[in-house]
Amino acid sequence: MTDAAYQKCINPSCGEEFDCGQSLFKCPKCGELLDVRYNWDKIEVPNKLSEFAKRWANRGNALDFSGVWRFRELLDFCEDKYKVTIGEGQTILQQNDAIAGYVDMNAGHLYLQYEGLNPSGSFKDNGMAAAFSHAKLVGATASACASTGNTSASVALYAHHCNLKCTVFIGSGRIAFGKLSQGIDYGAQTIQVQGDFDDCMRQVQDVCTKLGLYLLNSLNPFRLEGQKTIMYRIIEALGWDVPDWIIVPGGNLGNSSAFGKAFAELKQLGLIERIPRMAIINATGADTLTELVNNRKLIWNNGNVNQAIIDNFYADLTARHFSPHTCASAIEISRPVNLKKCLRAIDICNGVVRAVTDEEICDAKAVIGRFGLGCEPASAATIAGLKHLVAEGIVQKDQKVACVLTGHPLKDPNLTINYHKDKKGKFSNPPIEAPNDLDEIIKLIK
Ligand code: F0G
Repeated sequence: MTDAAYQKCINPSCGEEFDCGQSLFKCPKCGELLDVRYNWDKIEVPNKLSEFAKRWANRGNALDFSGVWRFRELLDFCEDKYKVTIGEGQTILQQNDAIAGYVDMNAGHLYLQYEGLNPSGSFKDNGMAAAFSHAKLVGATASACASTGNTSASVALYAHHCNLKCTVFIGSGRIAFGKLSQGIDYGAQTIQVQGDFDDCMRQVQDVCTKLGLYLLNSLNPFRLEGQKTIMYRIIEALGWDVPDWIIVPGGNLGNSSAFGKAFAELKQLGLIERIPRMAIINATGADTLTELVNNRKLIWNNGNVNQAIIDNFYADLTARHFSPHTCASAIEISRPVNLKKCLRAIDICNGVVRAVTDEEICDAKAVIGRFGLGCEPASAATIAGLKHLVAEGIVQKDQKVACVLTGHPLKDPNLTINYHKDKKGKFSNPPIEAPNDLDEIIKLIK
């Protein structure tokens, strides 16, 4: 490990610090989340972000090729010998006027950050490159995670690359087929728990503690360090300029937490002048963040979060035997583990939170498929949410907006087929049955 980085509890009345050689997923003293922090004066951070562009000239070096480690001074917690990469982060920021039109924005202002291009088809690989590097640093031999699907696919892929054993916990019947097939194909032991993601998340923490497995959920602070680089790549693709808004789906709230931290650090280092605003979009069937922030007025409050508001809400969920439900299975989560870090990100980025219906998600997904690079349902919550925010006048039509499309369209083919067949949705494009006859076929071609 480097002496420039350490772990620190986010609870201001605790604030315990730990070195990076420890594998912790919660503060051993108070149980709160941990951050990775840096002594920046011990790191040679370039004095302009654009200097990172030089690494493009050296793509034969795997660390320079990686879209995570290209920015390594900004996540400098381990020596190069531990760093893991399988080529993550080769992503595209696509400007898209057709989709801008769909959300009623002006042409030239909407960008889609397509994370489906990652090796396992989702943004998770950014986080795993960092977290598995930490796993190697601490000498882990076995890994585990709970997942709505993408984390399990990514963990399985990186675990077999690093030669670690791998067990993934998924809610039975709660994950999309593409993702399930990946975990199995990549050799993970897959445990289908009779419960939802939140049940799996609880179980996996206990299993990891009891058996000493290395946990790869976003409770792991090193994972979030890798996910910060999604923001660096957006800034890079905008010619080292920051957008006005970042729009991101909210599930376990790891991404939003990582993005807020990325911007706070860049500002602190003088590498950006202003911090963009952030919108976090829930599905209405899994809208804990929206309820807590918009209705129950939960705020970061310099780290002194009103725990009673959270406890009351969760007690209410338990009393109602509530289990979240949305077609965007990736974000079907009602007890997001990074809630407090996300509140901090909202504070840093002057953020807003919205929830969108499954119907809005499916329509937005079809529009992204027809006019963009496609995505899985959870990713489309960004465009559905942006449509609301433009209509409300919160996002201006001529502001520069970057939506993070978190996962590949092939992750959940069932939902796509169901939407399109039988003309179920506004943008359905059903396949047409044809007799095996040339004249009849020609009549059908439009
Ligand atoms: N989009 C996709 C495609 C996801 O897979 C997830 C989370 C999210 C958005 C939400 O991101 O948790 O950072 O707020 N998937 C996790 C999993 C929970 O297990 O694959 P978040």
